[in-house]
Amino acid sequence: MSAPPQATTVGVIGAGPAGLALARLLRLAGVDCVLLERRDRAYVEQRQRAGTLEPATIDLLRRIGAGERLDREALFLDGIELRFAGRGHFVDFAALADGARLAVYPQTKIVQDLVALQTQDGPPLLFEADVHTVSDLDGSRPTLGFRMAGRDHTLRCQYIVACDGAYGIGRRTVLAAGGHLQEHTYPYAWYGILADVAPSTDTLLYARSDHGFALHSMRSPTVSRLYFQVPADHVPEQWADEAIWDELARRLAAGTGWKLERGPITAKSVIGMSSELLAPMRVGRMLLAGDAAHVMPPTGAKGLNLAVADANALCQALLVSEPADRERALDQYAQQRVLQARRVERFSRFMTRTMHIAPEDDAETAARRLGVLERIAGSPETAQLFAREYVGRSRAEAA
Ligand code: APR
Ligand code: PHB
Repeated sequence: MSAPPQATTVGVIGAGPAGLALARLLRLAGVDCVLLERRDRAYVEQRQRAGTLEPATIDLLRRIGAGERLDREALFLDGIELRFAGRGHFVDFAALADGARLAVYPQTKIVQDLVALQTQDGPPLLFEADVHTVSDLDGSRPTLGFRMAGRDHTLRCQYIVACDGAYGIGRRTVLAAGGHLQEHTYPYAWYGILADVAPSTDTLLYARSDHGFALHSMRSPTVSRLYFQVPADHVPEQWADEAIWDELARRLAAGTGWKLERGPITAKSVIGMSSELLAPMRVGRMLLAGDAAHVMPPTGAKGLNLAVADANALCQALLVSEPADRERALDQYAQQRVLQARRVERFSRFMTRTMHIAPEDDAETAARRLGVLERIAGSPETAQLFAREYVGRSRAEAA
């Protein structure tokens, strides 16, 4: 194997959606960049995560050349269903959010598509390259130290971007420099399954029931993805397949003749729920994007959309040619994206609390939460606020 590059303009840590989208955007703008990923390609391409794309994310993926398979295979949704008190209510984006359409397209495929583009025409994407140090962040030549194939290497950069997720060196460096992490942990988790059965719904179905929250999503016309709320300490082995289907069926039940189809379960996992907001998103010549800076609970399906929007905004700032203006643009990036993340966090927390049942919730709290859902179902103004926030329209307007 040829020696890895020793210098670049932008060194990016982490080939998740944020790092891959940023590297692709920089490449299309003609900026030299190297992307370092500690895991191997198969691992990165198979990691199961959410995959609900807002219109702005779909547009961006199309713009960077990753729209072809998405347009062929994604399931496009004109709304979502909120199910509560045994009834379903369709939140119609066509009527409430200017015809916005969501795409259900698994993150595994997005990553595969972006990795294919990266390896096809660059910039270099190095797998199994584990970044262990970042240095000279306040100097003119910030440097990444990484280990690959049993040897240590250095990569000198003009800028470093940490897209290395919630447990990475980017976050640790910000915290060591006096950064602040605001965390909220929810007293429940999601039990998630993949099943070889056609979805029993043609939209995303979020349900609040007396037994807790459940979500029916999909991966393809023959693969369903479902989740249900469990206590935070549950382990996947605790649930037998039939018990999982029974629990999902009772939480998703509607008074009508609707029926949950069952099939072989091919994957089980427990997904923790937290909000994490880190600030600042910049230390000298190192910037953060995506989960490195902010983690959202999955209820609003916002993590991936926020990560890709970070990459887009950061690329624009990095492209400013006059150095002093670029520095200002990067400061602005760091400030603006923290504000955006706070807004998304507020919405995700609202939606999470409204849909779940917390151990401490009393009858009054439950009635209040149901009241919120009744208002979304019954008041066009409230429904519009909810729909526009859910599809990311209000954020686009506020930006
Ligand atoms: N060196 C190299 N790579 C690293 C290092 C390191 N020291 N530390 C972490 N990484 C890699 C991880 O292996 C991972 O592939 O950084 C990547 C971070 O990717 P993600 O966790 O997917 O983060 P991000 O790109 O911000 O994507 C956020 O993905 O996790 C979902 O729900 C989340 O949808 C959101 C989106
Ligand atoms: C998913 O399809 O995995 C999914 C959909 C919507 C969410 C979370 C996850 O809010």
